[in-house]
Amino acid sequence: MTTSLDGKVAVITGAASGIGKASVERFAEAGARVLAADIDVEAGRALEAAHPGQVVFHKCDVMSEDDIAVTLEVASQTFGGLDILFNNAGAGGSPTPLEEMTGELWDVSQNLLLRSVALGMRYAIPHMKARGGGAIVNTASIAALQAGMGPIAYSAAKAGVLHLSKCAAAELSRYNIRVNAICPGFILTNIFTPGDIPSQIKSAVQLTMRGMAHAAQPVQRPGEADDIAQAALYLASPASSFVTGTHILVDGGMLVGPRSSWDPEEQARRLKEREKLWAGAAELAQTS
Ligand SMILES: NC(=O)c1ccc[n+]([C@@H]2O[C@H](COP(=O)([O-])OP(=O)(O)OC[C@H]3O[C@@H](n4cnc5c(N)ncnc54)[C@H](O)[C@@H]3O)[C@@H](O)[C@H]2O)c1
Repeated sequence: MTTSLDGKVAVITGAASGIGKASVERFAEAGARVLAADIDVEAGRALEAAHPGQVVFHKCDVMSEDDIAVTLEVASQTFGGLDILFNNAGAGGSPTPLEEMTGELWDVSQNLLLRSVALGMRYAIPHMKARGGGAIVNTASIAALQAGMGPIAYSAAKAGVLHLSKCAAAELSRYNIRVNAICPGFILTNIFTPGDIPSQIKSAVQLTMRGMAHAAQPVQRPGEADDIAQAALYLASPASSFVTGTHILVDGGMLVGPRSSWDPEEQARRLKEREKLWAGAAELAQTS
């Protein structure tokens, strides 16, 4: 089985930046025609212009049920069907801790990150059924797997995406639709510098993060959007035709274990601490 997407039609949300944009490029390179959906019209149009005839931009706010339904319909009408949906749009959301959470802040994260995925799948079903099957890929996060990897509302929503993907895989297998998720680790994209931050500050933050990223996990280089796009391509393609209801962790080994399991500096620091402890205990034993 190959990762060719020749003749396939894909919708990718959050397509104008980062993981979504890299995925549009990978999917197009693999032969798919792609409807790139995003709220960022300028970046979306630029992406369309870079892939004439193969990528069409459509403005879609995944917080809106109507927008989602229309986007999938437009893809189907434009390209004659729908085979692949990559539910990827997202943002870090509110960093508010639980003790200060409001219903409104909670709902924004859940609607953007979890409800959008459920509705994306829901409105893809008729189009995929008409095609005799399909592949759905949902972006979750390492924050879905371990506490402390993201804001609490974000983490809960991403954990929801993982379980939702499993349940949907079970429900949709009767239509030959596969559903899987990806859990990215620390990937250098605009997600860390959202909104109206002045561009100079944005660049400085991104440069600093790039400098730090190689030391963040066992694989000593920054995680790039294309690392996730490659996993998405695999899960969207016939190469993964026996894979459904699961997730791929693409984190450079970040969740392999505690830092002391892979970082020699942390191991040396721990060793020194242990030696100090033993020396103190030996001294105490002599004096008592
Ligand atoms: N970058 C990371 O380290 C990381 C880690 C884990 C998970 N993720 C997830 O990956 C996905 C993509 O994020 P990214 O890192 O590429 O960030 P990004 O900011 O580079 O891209 C996100 C894209 O989503 C779009 N978007 C935001 N809100 C939208 C909405 N309401 N409707 C439609 N589009 C919307 C943005 O315009 C942007 O183009 C997100 O779901 C994010 O939670 C990212």
